[in-house]
Amino acid sequence: TPTRFDLNAPEVIADPYPHYAWLREHAPVYHDRDLGLWVLSRHDDVATALRDSDRFSSDTGGPWSDLSANPFNPSMKVAAPVARAARRLPAPRVLLTSDPPDHTMLRRKVSRAFTPRRIASWEPRIRQITERLLSQMTARGGRVDLVRDLASPLPTTVIAEMMGVPPERQDRFRRWSDKAIDGLLTNGSLRSTLHGTAAMSAYFAAAVRKRRRNPRDDLISLLVTDGDEAPLSAGELVTFCILLLVAGNETTTNLISNTMLALMDNPRAMEMLQADPGLAGAAVEETLRYDGPGQGLLRLTKADVTFGDVTIPAGHRVLPLIASANRDPRRHPDPDAFRLDRGRTDHLAFGTGIHFCIGHALARLESTVAIESLARLGLTPRPAGTPERINSPVLRGLRTLPLTLT
Ligand code: HEM
Repeated sequence: TPTRFDLNAPEVIADPYPHYAWLREHAPVYHDRDLGLWVLSRHDDVATALRDSDRFSSDTGGPWSDLSANPFNPSMKVAAPVARAARRLPAPRVLLTSDPPDHTMLRRKVSRAFTPRRIASWEPRIRQITERLLSQMTARGGRVDLVRDLASPLPTTVIAEMMGVPPERQDRFRRWSDKAIDGLLTNGSLRSTLHGTAAMSAYFAAAVRKRRRNPRDDLISLLVTDGDEAPLSAGELVTFCILLLVAGNETTTNLISNTMLALMDNPRAMEMLQADPGLAGAAVEETLRYDGPGQGLLRLTKADVTFGDVTIPAGHRVLPLIASANRDPRRHPDPDAFRLDRGRTDHLAFGTGIHFCIGHALARLESTVAIESLARLGLTPRPAGTPERINSPVLRGLRTLPLTLT
C-alpha cells in the first residue's frame, strides 16, 4: 500500500489506479508540497472544482499559458534562451485556459464549427479513411502496431481534412502536431514543443490569410468568415487551430489504443464485441470511464476553498484527477470492472462545466468507427510484445501497441 502520492513515479504512471484508490480513501484533498499542487480524487470534489469556474480558474499559468515550465514536473526546465523565446511569442486568449467573459466569447465563436450535425456529417469520410488504414494494415500481414497504423493516423488525417490541409502537406503537419504535444503534456522536450508550435503557427497564419481572401468549405474558413462584429484576431485563430490539434489528436489516439488494450485485458468483453461489433460505442464509452486519455486537469484557486476539513488557500494550483473520479465507488458501482452494459455514465473524461470538451462527439465517432471496423474484420487481435506507455502523469495512452491479427 502506498503512503504518499508521487505523480511522476514510474509505478504510478504504469498503473495509477491503486494509487488513486489510496488517495480517495486516505487523502482525498492531497497537498503535494514539492509540486505545489492540491490533488482532488473523489468524484464529487472533482466535479465541484470543474463546475465552479468562479473559484477555480483555468488561467493557471500552466501548459499553454507558460510554455517555459511544466507544472506537473518541475525538473523539466528549458534552457533560458528557449524560455525567453517562449515568452516573446504572442499570447492571445486561449479557449482552454481562459475564464469568463473571454471564455464565453471564444466558446460561442468556435462552437458553431462543432455542432452535432456538422460532426455527424463526417461519418462517411471517417469510415472511408478507417477502411483505407485497415486495408493497409492487413496488407502488412498479421503483425501491426495499432498506434502507428490506425489510432494515430485516423484523428490527425480527419482533423487535417476538416481544416483543409492538402494531402501532400499532411505528413509534415502530423509531425509538427506530434512535436507540439511532446513536452506540453508529457515528460518530453519543451524545446520540441516550441519548434512544433512555431512551425504550425506559421502554417496556420498563412492559411488564415488565404481563407480570408478565398473562403472554402473547411473549418478555418468557417472561423474566419464569422460575420460577427468582433471577429477573432489572426493570433486567436492560429492559436485555436493549434489547440484543436493538441487537444484532439493525441487524446483520440489514446482513446482508441486504451479501448483495444482494455478489450484484450477483458476477453469476455472482447468476445461480446467480436460477436456484435455494434457494441463498439459501449466499449469506447466504458474506456472513457475506466482508462481515459486525460487523467488530471489544472485549475488555480481564486478564493479559499474548503473540502471537508481541508482548506485550499487562494492562489494555489489544483489538480482534479478526472480519471480517479471515474473510478470512485461512491459514484460508479464496481468501478474497477470493465463492463459493456453500463450505458452512459456521468464520467468526467471530457470534463464538465463551461470547458466541457468541444470535440467529444468527434472523438467518440472516430473511436467508435475504429473499434467497430476492426471488430468487423473478424480477426482476433492478440498482444505481440510489450506496449510502450506515454511517460506522462496527466495523459494516459500508448506510444506503441504491437498486435497480431489472426
Ligand atoms: C476540452 C478531453 C478530444 C478539443 C477538453 C477537456 C477535456 C477534454 C477533459 C476539458 C479541459 C478542462 O476543463 O480544463 C478530451 C478527450 C478527447 C478529446 C479525452 C478524446 C478522447 C478532443 C477533440 C477535439 C478537442 C477531438 C477537437 C478536435 C477540445 C477543446 C477544448 C477541450 C478545444 C477546450 C474547451 C474549452 O476550454 O471550452 N477536452 N478531448 N478535444 N477539448 Fe477535448
